[in-house]
Amino acid sequence: MIITIDGPAAAGKGTLAAKLSAKYKYAYFDTGMVYRAVGLEMYLRNLDTADEKAALKIAETLTFEKMMELSAHPDFRSQIGGRNASIVSAYPDVRAALLKMQQDFSENPVFADGTPAQGAIYDGRDTGTVVCPEADIKLFITASSEVRAERRYKEFVAKGMDVAYEEVLADVKARDERDANRSAAPMKPAEDAVVFDTSTLNIEEVFAKACEIIDAEIDKEKR
Ligand code: C5P
Repeated sequence: MIITIDGPAAAGKGTLAAKLSAKYKYAYFDTGMVYRAVGLEMYLRNLDTADEKAALKIAETLTFEKMMELSAHPDFRSQIGGRNASIVSAYPDVRAALLKMQQDFSENPVFADGTPAQGAIYDGRDTGTVVCPEADIKLFITASSEVRAERRYKEFVAKGMDVAYEEVLADVKARDERDANRSAAPMKPAEDAVVFDTSTLNIEEVFAKACEIIDAEIDKEKR
């Protein structure tokens, strides 16, 4: 079973993916991590994110293990990390170089400890359209930019980071703009995706609806 969850930053994709992964015992791949790893590596090496060739070199040599190692860095999930990831993810060659690593996961989904799983859950921007166009279930989770900025802001504050709400909102809008308008794999729901708006639905409601869809698919596969 392959499930994709796409949508803009802070829409609730990660929370939903984690809940579904725990319930159905499917392995989870947060695909934003591949772009965060490239962006952070550039930052650590003092490279300018405008340098597309340098970004490509890093993308071409990125391994799953290196990505996991970088994910422990405090800036992996900071404002800087998110901004750098968003910039490098707009380069078509960088996206192409990182595609195989993401697709390979669906062939052999495993949990963090290496245990094999019966299925994979992806979250990202293009997982239903580009990474796994043959996925069994595609979800697209969205919410207004204000609602999403508020959530991100609270997450940063809870982690003790010093940021202003206005700065987070401006950043959410800038990332949406780049994600939706880039030439390679712009963010949009797949034609066969089910769309949920978490400005009006809470995460439990979205989770319940997603479970209904997945249970129906499991029943269909049994028949
Ligand atoms: O989801 P997350 O915020 O971790 O993603 C970091 C950045 O990577 C996003 O702002 C987006 O630009 C990019 N991304 C992407 N395609 C994906 C996942 C993330 O372009 N499948």
